[in-house]
Parts: sequence; structure tokens; C-alpha cells
Amino acid sequence: MKSIKNVTLKTLAVLAGVIVFYACGSSEQKKEETTDSKTLVKEAEEVKAEDNSKGVGKFTHVDVSPTLDKQMADAGKKIYDVKCSACHRLTDEKLVGPGWKNVTKTRTAEWIMNFATNPDEMLDTDAIAQGLLEECLVRMPNQGLSDDDARHVYEFMRENDGVK
Ligand code: HEC
Repeated sequence: MKSIKNVTLKTLAVLAGVIVFYACGSSEQKKEETTDSKTLVKEAEEVKAEDNSKGVGKFTHVDVSPTLDKQMADAGKKIYDVKCSACHRLTDEKLVGPGWKNVTKTRTAEWIMNFATNPDEMLDTDAIAQGLLEECLVRMPNQGLSDDDARHVYEFMRENDGVK
């Protein structure tokens, strides 16, 4: 009886050791990964800053007025509520995807509308999109937006960023 108990205790001790070992290993690995992805996002952002990236897709030139088109923004909000709000906050807080605060200040209209309508190709080829994916670890699914939908959501993002 006594010896069985000893063996069991020993086994438990060994198992505990193994678990601790793996736990440390994985958390350290995670730490490295987060640092890497942060660097990647930074690099991606630098790429953008240099070439003012328009991303990949059908939008090569979007006309944007300095003032807000309230009607478009309102239509965009409706789309946001139904198709985007599950994953995107309007603050800078990350949910599943990045928060939208200031997104219109860091990305071009073309990039945003291309990503919104063509996420698969962008995630496969665009450096900024790939940096975001490294951070969020979820591929944004195509939301089936029409061209107008995309333009309206973009206007709503501008309103969210303070354009009047
Ligand atoms: C299922 C979750 C999900 C939904 C729904 C979703 N997105 Fe995303 N979105 C993401 C993720 C995750 C990313 C980061 C890139 C990646 O990992 O695919 C992202 C990134 C973005 C970006 C780039 C943000 C930045 O900081 O540059 C834009 C723009 C965007 N989404 C627009 C939209 C629009 C517009 C809708 C609604 C029509 C929408 N998303 C719906 C998950 C989602």
C-alpha cells in the first residue's frame, strides 16, 4: 500500500513538472510571437506611410470631399451595425478586429474600401493587411459589400473620426 502511494506521488510530481515545463515553454513562445507581430505591424505601417498604399482591389481612386456627406454616413452606420459591429469597435479598442478610431487617418480611402470588399486577396498579398492578421489571428471574412456599401461605411468611419 505504502509503495503504491509513493509511486503515485512520484508520478504526480513528474507529471506536474512536465506540465509546468510545457506551460512555460508555450508562454515564452507566445511572448516572442507578440513581439514579432508588433514589429510586423510597425513595419507594415511604415510601408504604408511611404507609399500611401491603396491596397489591392477595384478601388484605385475615391473622391472624398473635405466635408462630411451625412446621408452617406448614416447609410454607412446601418451597414456597420449589421455587418461590422460584431468585430469592430468605434474606439481604438480591439475586439476581433482592430477598433476603427483614426483608421481614416492612417489608411487611404482606397485601401479601406479595397480591404472591406476584397479581404481575401488583401490578406494574401498586402503587407499592412498581413500585419493586422498577425495581430488579430483571425482572417476577416468577406462581408459581401457592394461598392456603394463600402463607400458609405467609409463615410461613416470619417464621421467617427470627427469629419463634419
Ligand atoms: C468576423 C469578424 C469581422 C467582421 C464581421 C468584420 N471584420 Fe473587419 N476585420 C476583422 C479582422 C480580424 C481584421 C484584421 C485583419 C485580419 O486579421 O483579417 C479586420 C480589419 C478590418 C479593416 C482594417 C482596419 C485597420 O486598422 O486598418 C477594415 C477597414 C475592416 N476590417 C472593415 C470592415 C468592415 C467595413 C466590416 C463590415 C462590413 C468588417 N470589417 C467586418 C474582422 C472582422
